Amino acid sequence: MQRAAIVLAAGAGTRMKSSKPKVAHEILGKPLVNWAIDAAKGAGISQVCAVVGYGAEEVKALIGDRASCAHQPEQRGTADAVQCALDDPSLAGFSGSLVILYGDCPLITSDTIRRLADLREKQEAGVVVLTMEVDDPTGYGRIVREDSFGSDGLAGGAFLRIVEQADADEATAAITECNSGMYCFDAAALRSALERIDSQNAQGEFYVTDAIEIIRESGAKAIALRVDDPEECLGVNSRIQLATASHILQMRINERLMESGVTMMAPEQVWVGPDVTVAQDVELLPQVMLYGSTSIGEGSIIGPNTRLTDTQVGCDCVVDETVAIEARIDDTATSGPRAYLRPGAHLCVGAKAGTHVEIKKSCVGKGSKVPHLSYIGDTTIGEGVNIGAGSITCNYDGTNKHATTIGDRSFIGSDTMMVAPVNIGSDVVVGAGSVITKDVPDGALAVARAREKLIEGWALRRKKPSDSQN
Ligand code: UD1
Ligand code: CA
Repeated sequence: MQRAAIVLAAGAGTRMKSSKPKVAHEILGKPLVNWAIDAAKGAGISQVCAVVGYGAEEVKALIGDRASCAHQPEQRGTADAVQCALDDPSLAGFSGSLVILYGDCPLITSDTIRRLADLREKQEAGVVVLTMEVDDPTGYGRIVREDSFGSDGLAGGAFLRIVEQADADEATAAITECNSGMYCFDAAALRSALERIDSQNAQGEFYVTDAIEIIRESGAKAIALRVDDPEECLGVNSRIQLATASHILQMRINERLMESGVTMMAPEQVWVGPDVTVAQDVELLPQVMLYGSTSIGEGSIIGPNTRLTDTQVGCDCVVDETVAIEARIDDTATSGPRAYLRPGAHLCVGAKAGTHVEIKKSCVGKGSKVPHLSYIGDTTIGEGVNIGAGSITCNYDGTNKHATTIGDRSFIGSDTMMVAPVNIGSDVVVGAGSVITKDVPDGALAVARAREKLIEGWALRRKKPSDSQN
């Protein structure tokens, strides 16, 4: 059976009080809309179509090639949004199970999505609606049933229809089983039901929820599946709900990591994005954020106070108080405290970027060290090199960036300025305080600074006689 998913993400989300669309807000470094898309993908559904409207260009850019995008020009209700997706070329002629999710419901799990689709297919139902039992049903569509639940949470044919809050009478409004807004439809049944949906309701909108009764009346099964944990259906409509959802996802990921052998002394103070991989026996100290496609190899210690984005860390590394973006730290290399590794920074095996060190688009060779107070940019450093404290590659002339190379086993004295473009050979020694503007051949000593002048007794003679009387 073919499976596809539609993610509704056309809304503005006014309660966020934001200049950007609601689904563009991030949790753990990932926009809300992509959480729903990736949940569908995690359930094995590769074909996903997102319905975009408000801030369409911005949302589309965030989605990238994760999903195809259908445009809903005007928000005329959830049925209209679904129709826009079905009209998109990506879903033309699709038949099979069609899962509908919301771009602002990031907590839905791949397991639940799979259960929805499996149940629909096993029961050959026209639709399975994911429902939830809540204390305060205000605002939700109510699940109207003929009888009460079976022990398995399924009520078979007893599920009649969904009634929206605005259209509910007092008895209906008292029902606490609610529509999560997530469904799995038989695509053909949904298509024909949509043709019959009108906007004759209190809100004057096209409700996808009306499809349930239409499908049931056509003789197909409509099933209500109660979700085990209503938390999965939590929608994000405000910044407070954004924080609630963030916290739930943070702990879900951290618990999974701890179960797989990662140590966290304070899991509440560790934030790991959903696409990050962390190997066994890694220790994540407080105030660590790992985002994007970051990966951490076995035995490494990360933190405290460290943010790594799209950064690859090998095994047995120590990464202390470091900010790294698109960087690579190979096995046994160390970074920090207080290091800034910018895109293209690469610490090879056993290399070190020490304290107050910034490295950009540069390779620090095997076992080489940049221990203190340096800026290294557009530079290739060989193996076994030592860069003295305060040394800087002057890679920018105000217009263009230029490259520096430093050969194996060279020793760069403290406070050296390497004015790029410049090549420093292997086995070179550069005297402290030098300003290197010319290439240095292999094995040479380079000293480029004013000669020291000594005037014997000068300092003593300068002292006024009164100084000694004080
Ligand atoms: C909807 C359901 C309701 C359910 C609730 C769960 C309908 C008619 N009602 O109500 O039964 O309990 O979700 O949260 O479906 N959207 C679009 N285009 C539109 C309209 C909506 O993309 O034209 C998107 C919104 O951005 C949002 C989602 O669909 O992410 C839900 O829309 P909303 O209008 O908020 O539906 P609810 O009134 O919450
Ligand atoms: Ca809503």
